[in-house]
Amino acid sequence: MSVETTALAVGERVARMRDRARIVRLSLSEFRTYKALDITSNDGLIAFIGPNGAGKTNILEALSLLAPGRGLRGAELAECGRLPVHATEAGLWAVSAILANDGDEIRLATGLAAGDEPGRERRIVRIDGTTVKSANTFPDYLRVLWLTPAMDRLFVEAPGGRRRFLDRLVLIVDPSHAARCSAYERAMRERTRLLRDGRGDGAWLSGLERQMAEHGVAIAAARVDLVARLAQAMATRKTAFPQARLSIAGETERHLQQLSAIEAEDVLAKALYDGRARDAEAGRALSGPHRSDLDVEDRAKGRPASQCSTGEQKALLIAIVLAATSLQERMDGGRTPILLLDEIAAHLDAGRRAALFQEIEALGAQAWMTGTDAHLFEALARDAALFRVDPGRVERCGELASRSRA
Ligand SMILES: Nc1ncnc2c1ncn2[C@@H]1O[C@H](COP(=O)(O)OP(=O)(O)OP(=O)(O)O)[C@@H](O)[C@H]1O
Ligand SMILES: [Mg+2]
Repeated sequence: MSVETTALAVGERVARMRDRARIVRLSLSEFRTYKALDITSNDGLIAFIGPNGAGKTNILEALSLLAPGRGLRGAELAECGRLPVHATEAGLWAVSAILANDGDEIRLATGLAAGDEPGRERRIVRIDGTTVKSANTFPDYLRVLWLTPAMDRLFVEAPGGRRRFLDRLVLIVDPSHAARCSAYERAMRERTRLLRDGRGDGAWLSGLERQMAEHGVAIAAARVDLVARLAQAMATRKTAFPQARLSIAGETERHLQQLSAIEAEDVLAKALYDGRARDAEAGRALSGPHRSDLDVEDRAKGRPASQCSTGEQKALLIAIVLAATSLQERMDGGRTPILLLDEIAAHLDAGRRAALFQEIEALGAQAWMTGTDAHLFEALARDAALFRVDPGRVERCGELASRSRA
């Protein structure tokens, strides 16, 4: 069957699905600490508890690879293969999940597969058993958002992390954003290579700059749209978390406030043309939305997130993720994301923890969470499952629901 035929058939099924997606089964093969792992759960809130190094984050990472990009650790794909690998195996692995929605099921899978020769391993992406071109197809079926301990420093570190966070938020409402970002980066890499080698003819460079301008303005427009939707959601949602004020610091995004998209494209294409010598010297493009930054402020305090306490920063991140999770209710095409919350409870007091679980449940989202200690999940009640993780092994601890009702 061709990729197109299947995509259409599955696309029709997706359109029929009401939006309350849940992953009901996750299978790992040769992934990090797991030779083989099979988890089934129909629950909305799923918590993994276990000691440091047990393999909790590895499970969340596996799920995060059912999305464009390199997952929540940003790891090289070969790194994810279980060690020690046989010299010829080059860390091949597979992750597969069944996504259920209103009685319908779709199998999503990805992994690293052998190529024609060693060193040519490649990422495989399959939807219902049919191979598709890239992981950029995943958001048509599944949206994923994550918060990890490494993101505790998101507001104080370099803009790259904030930009990636922003673009992942955009994917909640606009699945084509992944392909748009890839196309922009491809054109940018090619332009940088030509400039570096000093062998690009003018027409070729101009073509690449035009592509960068078109995709770049589309990227900026999607980000501006998302930030406006988030602002609206923040203003109207009832939540125990602080209100965040988001804005984008970026030339292209700023141009879109004063110019039409076509005009903004011309401005960006010209900036790239004028910047050729400068960019050749720098070895990278110094204009474009890949330079933009996400500014976040605690609205009530009027203070930049970077100057808030660690706990306050975490609360702001959670507020943004919850607001983004609520967006699909306000629009067509949005899809409730699956939330991957790694050690989310660590910075939250008991009241905030309980509020977080309640809000996730009220949003109808599924959350996969980790923690070192069961007491962090005491406030979980209905529709929740607890798993105990020990190196290479995962066991269900019993239904929290029945325990709390007993
Ligand atoms: N490719 C790999 N093959 C085998 N083991 C790996 C691989 N990559 C990482 N590990 C091991 O996985 C373990 C880490 O797993 P993980 O990060 O999921 O732990 P965790 O339960 O989240 O721990 P913590 O509570 O400290 O966050 C480490 O012991 C690490 O050495
Ligand atoms: Mg961990």
